[in-house]
Amino acid sequence: MLQTFSTPDGTMAYRDLGAGPPVVFLHGNPTSAVLYRHLIDGLSGSHRCIAPDYLGFGRSDKPTSLPPAFSHRPRAHASHIEALLLHLDLREVTLVLHDWGGPIGLQFALRYPERVRRLVLFNTWGWPHDRDPWIGGFSRLAGGRLGRFLILRFNAFARGILPLAVADRSRLSPDAVHAYADPLDTPARRYPSWAFARALLGETPWLRSLWARRRRLASHPALLCWGTRDPAFGFPSYLRRWTALFENAHVHRWPVGHYVPEELGPSAVPVVHRWLQKS
Ligand code: BEZ
Repeated sequence: MLQTFSTPDGTMAYRDLGAGPPVVFLHGNPTSAVLYRHLIDGLSGSHRCIAPDYLGFGRSDKPTSLPPAFSHRPRAHASHIEALLLHLDLREVTLVLHDWGGPIGLQFALRYPERVRRLVLFNTWGWPHDRDPWIGGFSRLAGGRLGRFLILRFNAFARGILPLAVADRSRLSPDAVHAYADPLDTPARRYPSWAFARALLGETPWLRSLWARRRRLASHPALLCWGTRDPAFGFPSYLRRWTALFENAHVHRWPVGHYVPEELGPSAVPVVHRWLQKS
């Protein structure tokens, strides 16, 4: 069922489906809860599935002016998510994180490790990119003036970067691209997607502070669902950082791109479901 949650910066929409141990799904750029539709279909028979859209994405409130009143910085999204999860008083939570969902979910997990039972990570990070020439270069370009123009004017993140980061384009239906791109239908509504691109470098201090506290989560079970053909964040070195952190990590690799849950569709469900049953 679609629910809403009021924040000081606008109203967030979230899906809340099923009953059982809670699973919280946090999306990245420029997606929404739609990214997790197959997993939610597959898990909501046995779990309570909660999937918010950050402000500016999916069915949550969107900016109406430029620059928007709300910053759309990831650490601000993280505060809204923290407020929502505390409001729902969730415990024994499984966090399912993709892309910017990683740092946003980590903030909650690091502050409330006792509320988090385990993590499922899809091509994500929790560390700064200032020493990474590839991601740093991407952020300078996409988060700079040219990127701002292309993203705000042409919806270039949803229409260009997202399809380019998918390994097998035949697995990305036109309907899926519409589901991500259509809500960002004015320049002001595309600002949040640009803000995420800029934040890859711009949020370096916040990302560094998250990573410095990572050992708090070392004993949490983690399922790492990795797309090995991700041109952005799929490097083996990224996966190694996670496996070095978690004492109890289970790794699944697929030859797919960045948007792993989108590209895998229903075939991710049995892997996640089985792991949830036994971990
Ligand atoms: C990002 O989330 O910033 C991103 C996603 C795909 C490709 C490049 C960057």
